[in-house]
Amino acid sequence: MRDEKEPRVGEPIKILVIDDEPLMRITIHDALASEGYTVESAETGQRGIDLLHEHLWDILLTDLKLPDRDGIQILKEVKALDLSTQVILITAYGSIDSAVTAMKEGASDYLTKPFSMDELFLIIKRLLRMKQLEEENVRLRKKIEERFGLEGLVGKSSQMEKIYQLIETVSQTDTTVLIYGESGTGKEMVANAIHLQSPRKNGSFIKVNCSALPETLLETELFGHERGAFTGAFRQRKGRFEMAHGGTLFLDEVGEVSSAVQVKLLRVLQERQFERVGGNETISVDVRLICATQKDLKEEIRKGSFREDLYYRLNVVPVLLPPLRERREDVLLLAEHFIGKFSQKMGKDIAGLSAEAKTLLLRYSFPGNIRELENMLERAIALIKGKLIEAQDLPEEVCGQATPIRDLCEKIQGSKPLATAVNLFEKEYIQNVLEKTKGKKGQAAEMLGISRKTLWEKIKELEIEI
Ligand SMILES: Nc1ncnc2c1ncn2[C@@H]1O[C@H](COP(=O)(O)OP(=O)(O)OP(=O)(O)O)[C@@H](O)[C@H]1O
Ligand SMILES: [Mg+2]
Repeated sequence: MRDEKEPRVGEPIKILVIDDEPLMRITIHDALASEGYTVESAETGQRGIDLLHEHLWDILLTDLKLPDRDGIQILKEVKALDLSTQVILITAYGSIDSAVTAMKEGASDYLTKPFSMDELFLIIKRLLRMKQLEEENVRLRKKIEERFGLEGLVGKSSQMEKIYQLIETVSQTDTTVLIYGESGTGKEMVANAIHLQSPRKNGSFIKVNCSALPETLLETELFGHERGAFTGAFRQRKGRFEMAHGGTLFLDEVGEVSSAVQVKLLRVLQERQFERVGGNETISVDVRLICATQKDLKEEIRKGSFREDLYYRLNVVPVLLPPLRERREDVLLLAEHFIGKFSQKMGKDIAGLSAEAKTLLLRYSFPGNIRELENMLERAIALIKGKLIEAQDLPEEVCGQATPIRDLCEKIQGSKPLATAVNLFEKEYIQNVLEKTKGKKGQAAEMLGISRKTLWEKIKELEIEI
């Protein structure tokens, strides 16, 4: 199968001409060839279709009326083959209806007989320019997608690939989505990506953090209130559900919602209706709901703090965002992305991470996930003097693990008793000093603060090779 999406750089432009009238066919053929295009012509529809299957054409120029085929049929063939070939149809004078049909079926343009070769050249140049732009677009998009998954989400791990696929599928529906993930794993970004990929993308994306507001405030925030609903309610106020009408509402930390608000939420999900606080008017909304939680809602149900019926309404499509430590292959990719972002923002020329800094990041567990990585790089770039982010530019909890002792602990870790570990350390340390002194024992003993005799005994006891 030919790869249609791959732009063909530097190849000659290929044009296929299908016309049963010999004079017309030869005139067009020669005119295009003299302009430097690679041209081939066919006198029947069938021969033309055969050529379509055999080669990749940039442009197909076909008469609408052929003895064996209809030009529209050939156009449909091009579309069915999913070719990027641009089709120009030649219609008879006065057959405006056929021209309209042709354009509806996806022809790029049409020419009405009689036409001049200059007219034809003009159309071809315009189509080629459009095609070139499209190919350029595909190339750029590909380049971007190499680093970015979807809507600015960075990550190429298999877990993230699955998330992208899920986002793409789920965004085409109005299903309620529940995003699970530790702090800083990208829950809000994923919610936003679902919105941006959905047919609601031109509507609003409204966010409410349910843990940030006390119960009564959350209720009015979500559902709004009428004038005089409570002391201080001087005027009517629309809630977030109303604001999100036609768009998406993102309820962050939904596990924190009080039982009274849970009841109201359940009703909106079932009936898409609610009343403002202190009001009788029933309001209907068209809102897509996305929720996020760090809590295990099943556990909350067991504890009696979350309604099971609401849970099932929210958990229609669960999206589980993995913590960063479970997709380490994304760490450096994300780091590079943030380095680019902050160095540009702060106007600094940063080359990247030193090898040691990379190793440290790859080893670190990131309890705060992507947000933690982002914050540490922002800080490092703000403070850095040089061009390279080194181990010492990273926070203590990251570079603290860099000490050789840590390394050694890692190496000898396991079920070894302390005495064995101490021996291993002694051995490693003495060996290291001996290497530094190039095997000169006197110098080594001095550095170690022991006598030559003790050193000699240690070498034997610990089986140190010199
Ligand atoms: N895949 C990703 N690619 C690039 N940046 C990301 C990605 N995921 C998260 N981020 C960035 O990490 C930070 C945290 O992301 P976000 O706010 O979406 O996470 P969260 O799970 O909602 O966090 P919290 O639980 O703290 O609210 C944001 O600055 C976001 O831009
Ligand atoms: Mg969040």
